[in-house]
Amino acid sequence: MLNWEDPLKAPSQTARPRTAPPGAAARHESRDTGSRSDVHHPLRAGDGLVSNDVLMATAGAAPSVDPNPHAVAEPEPEYDTDAEAGATGLESLEIGAGRIRVDDKKIINCRADLNQLVPFKYEWAWQKYLDGCANHWMPQEINMNADIQLWRDPNGLTDDERMIIKRNLGFFSTADSLVANNLVLAVYRHITNPECRQYLLRQAFEEALHTHAYQYVIESLGLDEGEVFNMYREVPAVSRKAEWALPFTQHLADPNFHTGTPENDQKLLRELVAFYVIFEGIFFYVGFTQLLSMGRRNKMTGTAEQFQYILRDESMHMNFGIDVINQIKLENPHLWNDGFKNEIVQMIREAVGLETQYAYDTMPRGILGLNAPMFEEYLQFIANRRCAQIGLPEQYPGATNPFPWMSEVLDLKKEKNFFETRVTEYQTGGALNWD
Ligand SMILES: [Fe+2]
Ligand SMILES: [Fe+2]
Repeated sequence: MLNWEDPLKAPSQTARPRTAPPGAAARHESRDTGSRSDVHHPLRAGDGLVSNDVLMATAGAAPSVDPNPHAVAEPEPEYDTDAEAGATGLESLEIGAGRIRVDDKKIINCRADLNQLVPFKYEWAWQKYLDGCANHWMPQEINMNADIQLWRDPNGLTDDERMIIKRNLGFFSTADSLVANNLVLAVYRHITNPECRQYLLRQAFEEALHTHAYQYVIESLGLDEGEVFNMYREVPAVSRKAEWALPFTQHLADPNFHTGTPENDQKLLRELVAFYVIFEGIFFYVGFTQLLSMGRRNKMTGTAEQFQYILRDESMHMNFGIDVINQIKLENPHLWNDGFKNEIVQMIREAVGLETQYAYDTMPRGILGLNAPMFEEYLQFIANRRCAQIGLPEQYPGATNPFPWMSEVLDLKKEKNFFETRVTEYQTGGALNWD
């Protein structure tokens, strides 16, 4: 859509003269000179596969709150048995009510007006919203021509490679929908803070882009859409993870569910762990690694590039979720008791088992220099990291990372001035037509 033949463009559009967006020439000049490692280079979808460190340099790394809630002695709150959850933002206006103060804000069960974004209390949430906007991309900016040729070539890919691509498209195409529905229909209502909601709205749009990206790949390759989109109901390896996650979101999506009691607040916290730490933070990682590994071997580079951008978004979603979880713990330390912590540890261990099974199911034989036992180790390494991020003990002593090239994705230590690298020329040339 920018400067290549878009395989999905309608014939009538191809005759229209195309204008490269401002900055496109500079981007390609920079590609030719191989200066991608320059962090000031505005990283854009369509630039082709780039090394992870460069990609992750533009991912959010806003500081996380202290994962140890017990460091702050908070008095146990008294629950008002008549109290029902927090505000929704849709209450009737109270004319002349006192102005919002920072101290009125709480991440859950807040009764203050939710329509007033400022004054900010959770700067990290607002920063992540800004970072998400700075990393905007669109699936159709990525050139899929090489993938189409390779897919059509009967000798282009092995059967195992084709299975990995189809299984992952099957998993992700519905998994991202599930995450989006969970956000909009379950999580959003219970997070009673406007700056966090601002990020949730951005995240919801990014989830839509991810589903769009899978659809774009499926359509580009001419795959059977019915087969791919139904895998989560037909292929056990794909369905197990969605089945595991659904009960958590179903509690919260129940219109009769309200936070405001210790039991229900724990249900919310459990659900946030299930989706942010486990679903987006563990269940996505075998597929991401498989697809990115293919791109590193110069196969299905367009698909791999789509997944690189998705992974960058997902790492930010997960970090946002971890910050929310830790903030809820800080404000409600009574929720994070030993019994609950044990339960969360068991959830994480169970998730590692499920994702390991996914690795074996999608990769019965070694391929691309990868094999299922390597993934088992990798998932244990990741799970240790996730546990530490929410203040739980590591569960797999000594687990190491067999894919060091993915490590930047996990570390996210790079500080960044997003205003220097923000994409200022953003517009999809063919998509915007003001005539
Ligand atoms: Fe996503
Ligand atoms: Fe996500």
